[in-house]
Amino acid sequence: DWNMPDYVTEAIEKVRAQVGKDEVILGLSGGVDSSVVAALLHKAIGDQLTCVFVDNGLLRLNEAEQVMQTFARNLGVKVIHVDASAQFMGHLAGVTDPEQKRRIIGREFVEVFQAEAQKLPKARWLAQGTIYPDVIESAGAKTKKAHTIKSHHNVGGLPETLNLKLCEPLRELFKDEVRELGIALGLPHEMVYRHPFPGPGLGVRILGEVKQEYADLLRRADAIFIDELRAADWYEKTSQAFAVFLPVKSVGVMGDGRTYDYVVALRAVETQDFMTARWAQLPYELLGRVANRIVNEVRGINRVTYDITGKPPGTIEWE
Ligand code: XMP
Repeated sequence: DWNMPDYVTEAIEKVRAQVGKDEVILGLSGGVDSSVVAALLHKAIGDQLTCVFVDNGLLRLNEAEQVMQTFARNLGVKVIHVDASAQFMGHLAGVTDPEQKRRIIGREFVEVFQAEAQKLPKARWLAQGTIYPDVIESAGAKTKKAHTIKSHHNVGGLPETLNLKLCEPLRELFKDEVRELGIALGLPHEMVYRHPFPGPGLGVRILGEVKQEYADLLRRADAIFIDELRAADWYEKTSQAFAVFLPVKSVGVMGDGRTYDYVVALRAVETQDFMTARWAQLPYELLGRVANRIVNEVRGINRVTYDITGKPPGTIEWE
C-alpha cells in the first residue's frame, strides 16, 4: 500500500543508513530521474552531496541556467557546472555517423565526469537515477541477446575505475512513482513532468556533422516549439516533442528578398513505452503558429516541416 509521505521518510532514512557520513557524487543531467535523486539526497544528506552538471554544448536552450537556478540557487544543492561544450564540439568535428557521434559523446562525458570526480577525493559513493525499468532492461539484456538498434548512452556506464560504491535510491520505482516522489520532495511540476531527452542530446537531432551554428539555430527553434506546445496545453498530451535540424538549404522569400536557408522538422509523438509510437495529431493552427514563429524569429531557418512517420517504421529520433 503506497503512501508517499511515509515513502519519502523511509527513502531518506535508507540513504542515510547506506552512506553514513560519506560524501556522494551525482551526475545531474536535468532529466527527471537524476533531478529526483538530487532532491532526495540533498534532503537526506545535505552538503555530503556534490552534483556534477556537464554542459556538452548539445543541451536545450537555457538548460544549464535552469538547472543551476532550480538546484543551486533555489534548493541550495552543491552543483559543479562544467562547461565542456568546446571539448565536445572539437571531438565531433567532421563526424557524421550517428553511432560514432553517440560513442564520442558518451566517451567525452565519462572523461569530463571522471576528471571532476578526481577533484573530490573524499567521495565514496556514486549516486545514479537508475529506475526499476532500467534494472529489468539490463537484466534482460544480459540473458537475452541484447538487440540494440541504437546504442543508448545515458549518464550510466561510468567506469568501475572510479572506485565508488553505487547509491541508487530509485531502483525499485516505476516512472510515475519517481514523479510522485519528485513532487513530494518539492520539485517544480514542469521539471518532474518533462519529456525524456536523450543523453547525446542535440547531437542526434542535428543530422550528420554537428556544428555550433546548427546547434544554436536548433536550440532556438526547439524552444519555440516547446513554448507553443505548452501554451496550447499540448505538451503533456505528447510523450516527446522536439525539433530536428536538417543541414540542407532551400529557397524562400522574405520581404523583397530571396532566402536560401536551413530546414527544421518538428517531431511530436504519443507512446506508452517508446518502443512503438504514433505521431501526434497536433492542431493545424498550432503547427502553423510554430512554423511562422520559427521562420520569423530564427534567421537562418526558412522552412519547417512536420514528421508524420510512426514508429515503426520510423524511430522517434532521426538518428
Ligand atoms: P528511438 O529514436 O530509438 O528512441 O525511437 C526511443 C527513445 O529513446 C531515446 N533515445 C536515446 N536516449 N541515448 C538516450 O539516452 C540515446 O542514444 C538515445 N537514442 C534514442 C529517444 O529520445 C526516445 O525517447
